[in-house]
Amino acid sequence: MDRTGGGAGMSGEVEERAGASGEARPSDARGGERDGGEVEWIASDLLALQLLRPLLDGGGYLPWSSGAMRPGGLVTICNEIALGGRRRVVELGAGASTVLLARLLREQDTGATLDAIEHDARWAEWVGKRLAREGLDAVAQVTLAPLEPHPSAALPWYAAEPLTAALAGTPVDLLIVDGPPAYAPGTGLARYPALPALLPFLAQDAIVVLDDILRVGESEILQRWERETALRFERREAEAIALGRRIA
Ligand SMILES: C[S@@+](CC[C@H](N)C(=O)[O-])C[C@H]1O[C@@H](n2cnc3c(N)ncnc32)[C@H](O)[C@@H]1O
Repeated sequence: MDRTGGGAGMSGEVEERAGASGEARPSDARGGERDGGEVEWIASDLLALQLLRPLLDGGGYLPWSSGAMRPGGLVTICNEIALGGRRRVVELGAGASTVLLARLLREQDTGATLDAIEHDARWAEWVGKRLAREGLDAVAQVTLAPLEPHPSAALPWYAAEPLTAALAGTPVDLLIVDGPPAYAPGTGLARYPALPALLPFLAQDAIVVLDDILRVGESEILQRWERETALRFERREAEAIALGRRIA
């Protein structure tokens, strides 16, 4: 999840961003947001929190900011790992979700790993230290990849070298696209490059999860990805995510 409105971000930077553009906008009846505005959790998120409870209780407090994914979306991702046997997870945009998923990977003990890609140096350091403090760095790591101009995208994208290095090796079978931030005006399509750029690194049976699909930008990204690739997306509006799979 990625939004402007308030919330308990742990770093001053995020609070600042929120304050700068934190105008609350109306959300729809399902909860969620339409275009970068305030998110309201709905009943299913509270149920999802209960399902996540073992992972939340296990390692102590997590700074679950306004930018974190919704609990319902995280449950779906956890199920993909626990039941779908996903072994190589990559997450664009680190946060509480990274720590929580790392806790699940350690608990599952299947050899599955998580690589989180983060553009913000302070935040990458915080998440990396948190993983290390909990002894989760054996299953998960954070790679700092600052945003920079991209030759075939209008908006900045993760620096190619660290991104490519982090993706090398075993093909990715679960890709979570929750970065770069896309809430500021004019950045709605910031996550568009994710699929064209990462397609060569995906396993044939990979699942791609896009967060924040109630926003106009992510909705357009899904349409473009479906036009331009062989992936088709199941939209789960109550969870604010879409799940994409290759059709052939
Ligand atoms: C949509 S958030 C990613 C959230 C993450 N996937 C999660 O669900 O917890 C996008 C960006 O916001 C920043 N961010 C996320 N949580 C933050 C926090 N609690 N404090 C400061 N920055 C945060 C990071 O730079 C991150 O890449």
